[in-house]
Amino acid sequence: MADADAIPAPMIVPTLGDGVVILRPLRLDDVVARLALGRDLEIHRLMGWDGSGAPAGYTQADADLWMADQLKFPYSWAIALPEPGVKGPDGSLPDRMIGSVRLGGVNDALAPGLRTASLGIGLLDPGVLDRGLGMRAMRLLFPYAFGPLGLHRIGLRVLAINTRAVHCYEKLGFQIEGRERQTYSLLGQWHDSLVMGLLAQEYRV
Ligand SMILES: CC(C)(COP(=O)(O)OP(=O)(O)OC[C@H]1O[C@@H](n2cnc3c(N)ncnc32)[C@H](O)[C@@H]1OP(=O)(O)O)[C@@H](O)C(=O)NCCC(=O)NCCS
Repeated sequence: MADADAIPAPMIVPTLGDGVVILRPLRLDDVVARLALGRDLEIHRLMGWDGSGAPAGYTQADADLWMADQLKFPYSWAIALPEPGVKGPDGSLPDRMIGSVRLGGVNDALAPGLRTASLGIGLLDPGVLDRGLGMRAMRLLFPYAFGPLGLHRIGLRVLAINTRAVHCYEKLGFQIEGRERQTYSLLGQWHDSLVMGLLAQEYRV
């Protein structure tokens, strides 16, 4: 279990939903769901994790590290699907976490004249990919990011071989702004990264 003393409590970001996907603040008990999701090799490689020589399996320590990493980002959300069941003691509805999304650098971004943030998104359950859920998550996040949060630009880096993610980003209005050569070595082969950016006025709903 995550050590609640070692991990700061998640910041309260707004809960966003469209009836199918929920973006909600991470909870410390999400570490249980994260452990259950484990490590799908293809998903992790698309996010730049080589894994050669790493021990097989995904451990409690891995899940705790994942949670600690998420919580370094004040603007991070669990991507979840509603589940049948009763409300928790805090009034929260039951759901199943399937991944996470975050905006990095937002605190700096809110300085006048610097309103940019970096996007990180990952669905972690291979069974939910390609069902429109990632696009839904970003369509929930971006109106908030460009609206109440006041961002002007969202940038990201993505492996060039991650054509599904690139397609999704372009569909939302991101443009490819550059190519970084041979940034990741995966299974002994070098891969390039694309630098992509989306300006508030370019966002395509
Ligand atoms: C990238 C990600 C968020 C997209 O979410 P998703 O729910 O799987 O994707 P969606 O179902 O919303 O949309 C998939 C789109 O990509 C298209 N697509 C699927 N596989 C593709 C491929 N190999 N190449 C190009 N396009 C592809 C689909 O046809 C669909 O496009 P359409 O709506 O125009 O038909 C999700 O796949 C993910 O988290 N992947 C693993 C981690 C990752 O890659 N994170 C991003 C790191 S930068």
